[in-house]
Amino acid sequence: RMNVRKITTGSQALDGLLGGGIETRTMTEFFGEFGSGKTQLCHQLSVNVQLPPEKGGLSGKAVYIDTEGTFRWERIENMAKALGLDIDNVMNNIYYIRAINTDHQIAIVDDLQELVSKDPSIKLIIVDSVTSHFRAEYPGRENLAVRQQKLNKHLHQLTRLAEVYDIAVIITNQVMARPDMFYGDPTVAVGGHTLYHVPGIRVQLKKSRGNRRIARVVDAPHLPEGEVVFALTEEGIRD
Ligand code: GTP
Ligand code: MG
Repeated sequence: RMNVRKITTGSQALDGLLGGGIETRTMTEFFGEFGSGKTQLCHQLSVNVQLPPEKGGLSGKAVYIDTEGTFRWERIENMAKALGLDIDNVMNNIYYIRAINTDHQIAIVDDLQELVSKDPSIKLIIVDSVTSHFRAEYPGRENLAVRQQKLNKHLHQLTRLAEVYDIAVIITNQVMARPDMFYGDPTVAVGGHTLYHVPGIRVQLKKSRGNRRIARVVDAPHLPEGEVVFALTEEGIRD
């Protein structure tokens, strides 16, 4: 775990839960139900990676792969403004890519190797969400094996990019509030375990009162157990 660097989430509590922030050389998964804050966190991190190290960033750029069409430049603007950053700069330092289906999503990640080796200032890759196209195109138990195989390959490719290029990779995954009702879907937790095993850190997000959200790290022996609360505000992720 040498030379791992961290990106602040904007919440000290959440950073504390993660041992200081989102790590480079690691894939971090945010999973949780709709509205739990996955996409807001992705927006915030693509701004925060650009902060200088003394403010919790890596003076880096972000690649944002959007599979659901939920990316909003206005959110980036608001978050950048709240941090006193130059808005045009911040927007220029985010490579936005819309992935229209699984083949496209896989091809984008195939091509990223070239982009990140050309531009070493890229320090963050986001796939929001990593599972939606796979779920839509390979539904049900009958497609489980092929979906699983394709998704695993995709996830390992992302993990390799993180490790080889010292990049933080973030994936999101929408899961139902009651995953036990959806046994057979390899992308949801079943009995506390997932049916896919990839290296990385898994963070469960849950809704709480109003704009409050709860985060919990799952299956990470090197991180402390427990939950923290953070807030989704107009300015972005905060305590
Ligand atoms: P799915 O993609 O549907 O699974 O949900 P998600 O986990 O990505 O949720 P998301 O990050 O989109 O969180 C949605 C929540 O963020 C909303 O319920 C709002 O509370 C908050 N939110 C989204 N946009 C804004 C905004 O422009 N301003 C503020 N203050 N809050 C926002
Ligand atoms: Mg979302």
